[in-house]
Amino acid sequence: MPNITFSNSDYKQKTVYAVAGSHTESILKIAKANKIPVDFSCEDGECGTCLIKVTRLSDKGPMGGPLTEKETKVLKELGKVSKKEIEQMAVDDLPTQWRLACQIIVRDEDILVEY
Ligand code: FES
Repeated sequence: MPNITFSNSDYKQKTVYAVAGSHTESILKIAKANKIPVDFSCEDGECGTCLIKVTRLSDKGPMGGPLTEKETKVLKELGKVSKKEIEQMAVDDLPTQWRLACQIIVRDEDILVEY
């Protein structure tokens, strides 16, 4: 079961255990359920408010689910991924560190989420 550690300079770091079945839940949903103040607005991958940086803490498997189309578009608009990185992601299936909390689905791995 994955541990998700939420980190922000203004708040105490908090690690939560994603419960079984949470593999269909976004990091934003998990943060909200645990009262972790990750910023958000649209909750639909449109605004970019929920931008987070994700680091994998365990060494197996790729990090988080693949980027959605909306997520890729917003991250590009925010200047967090380049066209080259997007092309590379399609080849090696490794997402970038920058993600949208309302779009990324947790996999069975320990991650650090900076928000
Ligand atoms: S809350 Fe708007 S993109 Fe995630």
